[in-house]
Amino acid sequence: MLVESNQEIAERISLISVSSTMRVAAEAEKLRTQGVDVVDFGAGEPDFPTPDNIKLAAIRALELNFTKYTNAGGTLELKQAVCERHAADFGTHYQPGECMITVGGKHAIFNLTQALLNPGDEVVIPVPYWVTYKDVVNYAGATCVFVRTDEEQGFTFTADMIAPCLTAHTKMVMINSPSNPSGAVLDRAEFEKIYRMTAERGIFLLTDECYCRFLYDSEPFSIASLAGAKDNVLVAGSLSKTYSMTGWRIGFVLAPARVIGAMVKLQSHATSNPTSIAQKAAVEALRGPQESVATMLAEYARRRDFVVERLRAIPGVRCAEPRGAFYAYPNIGVALRNGMSSSVQFAEKLLEKAAVAVVPGEAFGTDRHVRISYATSMHELARGLERLHRFIVEQ
Ligand SMILES: Cc1ncc(COP(=O)(O)O)c(C=O)c1O
Repeated sequence: MLVESNQEIAERISLISVSSTMRVAAEAEKLRTQGVDVVDFGAGEPDFPTPDNIKLAAIRALELNFTKYTNAGGTLELKQAVCERHAADFGTHYQPGECMITVGGKHAIFNLTQALLNPGDEVVIPVPYWVTYKDVVNYAGATCVFVRTDEEQGFTFTADMIAPCLTAHTKMVMINSPSNPSGAVLDRAEFEKIYRMTAERGIFLLTDECYCRFLYDSEPFSIASLAGAKDNVLVAGSLSKTYSMTGWRIGFVLAPARVIGAMVKLQSHATSNPTSIAQKAAVEALRGPQESVATMLAEYARRRDFVVERLRAIPGVRCAEPRGAFYAYPNIGVALRNGMSSSVQFAEKLLEKAAVAVVPGEAFGTDRHVRISYATSMHELARGLERLHRFIVEQ
């Protein structure tokens, strides 16, 4: 007898898909375990070790038995350190009551979207966007409204491009500058215009500052530093890239206290506090010497110049110059032939035939690009780009 099952997966899980960056990492890992010499441009994480002073702070925390629950929203000490660092870097004036610590920057964005969005709400997102935005907005039952950008303009955008997308249903505009995947940096004057537009209409402006310290030709800037902006702006921050701490899982949110309260409620039933030891390490990262950030930035700048020049040397490949973060987002449309019609197929074939892992542009909302992370050594970049060149020419 057929029994109707009550063991179906919840419908809301069908609203999200497996992160493509993680799928690429898994595929590359599988090939590697089979002995294939894979060059991996997929991973969006620094190849530098976490600085020693940060690791020592974690060891000290262990020695002092700082190994128990903390407040669900993070320790007061770390919240103070986040507010101080943000004030020192950007001239903002946040208090610990307007701050919470999360399990990485991704969790910051998850908390913000789940605590604020209702079904029917619209969220305006420029394209190309970071993969997770679409899924977390969908998961909240809200709707993404995508704003196309122009590759010729380096994928940046203006307030005039955002304005037509704002409706009575718009709850939030999400901005990521510098951008993953394109490295585009939003012009400061346009950022300010977008802020004013959202503030006037009572729309939240979420700024994902994950790569805020990795800028090649402009000064670090936070829209939250504008007078009065704290009421309207939601800052999602992460220590993952800035301090090469991807595995430690520490991020934060700076937002109005009532928004923080809602998110702490959610977090208290989900993860509870981020790991106590990692929180101590994060205090050291934020309050200790900052030289490692400049050292990494200088190395990324060197690699960026090499990668862009090398990509542009491949016949038919175009590449907008990344102005921040550590990704290049070349247009590989020239190679979409001989049965390959999408960047997904391109990435699959590139991995299979040339053992180079890249993330297909589909993940970020465009279909003729791939993302190349240059958070890897010059040696690997040279090897992988040589293979990519040959693969495209031989298509
Ligand atoms: C644009 C952007 N925001 C946020 C994050 C979150 O980083 P994490 O959760 O590792 O702190 C990432 C990570 O890749 C990212 O690229």
